[in-house]
Amino acid sequence: MHAPHLTQLPAWKALEANRDQIARTTLRELFAADPTRGERMAVEGAGLYLDYSKNRANNETLSLLVQLAQQSGVEAHRDAMFAGQKINVTEDRAVLHVALRAPEGSIILLDGVDVVPAVHKVLKSMGAFADGIRSGTWKGGSGKRIRNIVNVGIGGSDLGPVMAYEALRHYTDSSLTFRFVSNVDGTDFAEAVAGLDPAETLFIISSKTFVTLETMTNAQTAREWILAGLGGDTSVVARHFVAVSTNAAKVAEFGIDTTNMFGFWDWVGGRYSMESAIGLSTMIAIGPRHFADLLGGFHAMDEHFRSAPLERNLPVILGLLGVWYSNFFKSQSIAVLPYEQYLKRFPAYLQQLTMESNGKSTRLDGTHVTYNTGSIYWGEPGTNGQHSFYQLIHQGTHLIPCDFIGFNKALNQLGHHHDYLISNIFAQAEALAFGKTASQVKAEGTPDWLTPHRVFEGNRPSNVIMADVLNPATLGSLVALYEHAVFTQGAIWGINCFDQWGVELGKQLAQNIISELESVTQPTLAHDSSTNTLIQRYRSRR
Ligand code: F6P
Repeated sequence: MHAPHLTQLPAWKALEANRDQIARTTLRELFAADPTRGERMAVEGAGLYLDYSKNRANNETLSLLVQLAQQSGVEAHRDAMFAGQKINVTEDRAVLHVALRAPEGSIILLDGVDVVPAVHKVLKSMGAFADGIRSGTWKGGSGKRIRNIVNVGIGGSDLGPVMAYEALRHYTDSSLTFRFVSNVDGTDFAEAVAGLDPAETLFIISSKTFVTLETMTNAQTAREWILAGLGGDTSVVARHFVAVSTNAAKVAEFGIDTTNMFGFWDWVGGRYSMESAIGLSTMIAIGPRHFADLLGGFHAMDEHFRSAPLERNLPVILGLLGVWYSNFFKSQSIAVLPYEQYLKRFPAYLQQLTMESNGKSTRLDGTHVTYNTGSIYWGEPGTNGQHSFYQLIHQGTHLIPCDFIGFNKALNQLGHHHDYLISNIFAQAEALAFGKTASQVKAEGTPDWLTPHRVFEGNRPSNVIMADVLNPATLGSLVALYEHAVFTQGAIWGINCFDQWGVELGKQLAQNIISELESVTQPTLAHDSSTNTLIQRYRSRR
């Protein structure tokens, strides 16, 4: 039997009516009518404070959104994930990234087997290896200490490591250099190794599948670079390569000794893997103790997601508000705006997490959706965006809900910088919500003809997410907050957040085109006329 269609659920219908009511009011009016709104519509958990009061929503909206979550089975779906059920049905896999951060001794069963001991076994071997690099006991093939770590991976095997390295830079061992290579563009590799001594360089080849074109190409180039730098001595290559993968056979085939491999499992999605062995570069950078704190932050949010009532549940609220704007206001995108320079790669990280997860239009039952799904996520660290794209958010024609992220304490306390930085979060959220009316603009002496240009309509929604300080634990909580918000949305939309079939076609077509580009003889081209012409032009001009 088919589940009732989302748009036929009673809560959906009631939300449509509520939307019509909300559309006639403003955030100014909502705040004026309820002086406690700013305190009331805030929730705290796992080290994060979420102020969601500046959303176009009233008490009824929130209660109906929670009902929508209940009627669409979010809780049962969440419990199925934690219970190791194969909710990634199109790949017949469990979804157990929560097991990666489960404390030692807890039990998470998959097909009757507790997966937590295996997780901690890998964490321990990662820890021993990270300590070896950090202390200098693990040496390169020529006996020199490893000083440079280059992670080679793409997608989830890159974005998490890069984001975490940048985010936690304050906690990293600054005597070590970290670089990241992802793009198949040779420039990425060339620039990443520029200035590095091969004798002091370790490559971490990170790939869940170990067949990804970009990563395998870069890994091969890395091998050649090490060999060329070390006089062609193949016996020393092993000291300069480790692998992180689920695919031991492919790792061995590539020529990396599987004793230098750190494993994970098919129940970890690429974009949910930064705290698995894919986080090896992170662990080397910040050390095993801080890595344990990172896992602790993730776990704290997992527990909050699992146990807090839906109406006090941070990821649920965040996810529901995304559904609210996407489905009831036809908003297309969400801006994520971290006012913390160390989080400069966080929006890029979130793009894969959110868009590869919820960029789907087929429901679990195989039918096509009749409503919007995943939003377009984008952003830049504050205050840079203010001098660039905020104009459109304030006065443009698109409704772009914003997530502002800030920290009470600065990691680099310099003069007034931090107060200036944080004042801008509060000011931007205030300006978006309340705007500036024509009479306010006129009262400043603005001539009539200029007044309309200087009016801010306001009524533009935002969330403010605050934590005390950016550290491994708060980073873990923040990532898990978005993971579970994505999950909540996917459950409501009835889609599979955990597959990514949409990336396949381009990969397959590229394989054919590679042989056509590289063919010595003129290939017979059977594409469309545009693709044929592009191939011919490139062949004749490269
Ligand atoms: O582009 C699709 C994708 O499969 C992502 O989901 C994944 O994170 C990335 O490629 C890299 O895959 P792998 O870790 O197997 O190299």
